Amino acid sequence: MATIEQLGPDDWQEFREIRMRALADAPTAFSMTLADAEEQPEEVWRGRLDQGDPILAVRDGDRLVAMGGGWRPPEDPDRVMVWGMWTAPEARGRGYARALLDHLVDDARSYGASTVELHVTEGNDNARRLYEDCDFIATGEWTPLREGSRLRIELLRLTFRPRPRH
Ligand SMILES: CC(C)(COP(=O)(O)OP(=O)(O)OC[C@H]1O[C@@H](n2cnc3c(N)ncnc32)[C@H](O)[C@@H]1OP(=O)(O)O)[C@@H](O)C(=O)NCCC(=O)NCCS
Repeated sequence: MATIEQLGPDDWQEFREIRMRALADAPTAFSMTLADAEEQPEEVWRGRLDQGDPILAVRDGDRLVAMGGGWRPPEDPDRVMVWGMWTAPEARGRGYARALLDHLVDDARSYGASTVELHVTEGNDNARRLYEDCDFIATGEWTPLREGSRLRIELLRLTFRPRPRH
């Protein structure tokens, strides 16, 4: 049975493995490149899992098959950015990405955030359909995927009434 778990610093090797798979599989879906990720040392992978922001994964048997993260920009506690959404090709269409997104949105609400944002690359209609189905709204704010790229990404936003912080 597949389960969702929050990864911690000791999971850095599995995190690195699934992130590398994602970057190799879908290089136009993410701003980071595989080459950049390959250069990152253990401390960086561990550090990302040790910052208090959720990095969630779906485990099926002994493998991680899907992931997604939430990041709170320190200058704006009302906002959570969702990043790195990816499901392994053999595990797609089982609702894993939707389940991860639901968790990340729920987490954001429990922090007291009022907005969840994410980027989607032009032409990535499967991902856009998922986000729009989960009530994210296209903002019309387009930026390049990464410096020098001709591909563009659009910011999508979900806004809700914040719950009181605790
Ligand atoms: C986008 C992605 C994360 C979806 O993962 P997934 O686990 O297969 O998604 P789910 O099974 O939760 O499907 C959720 C919704 O996405 C849409 N969707 C997913 N795969 C689809 C497909 N092959 N065709 C059409 N719609 C699809 C559907 O709206 C689906 O809704 P449904 O459950 O009512 O059918 C996955 O295709 C992926 O990793 N793609 C490459 C990386 C990527 O684009 N990441 C997003 C970066 S913004």
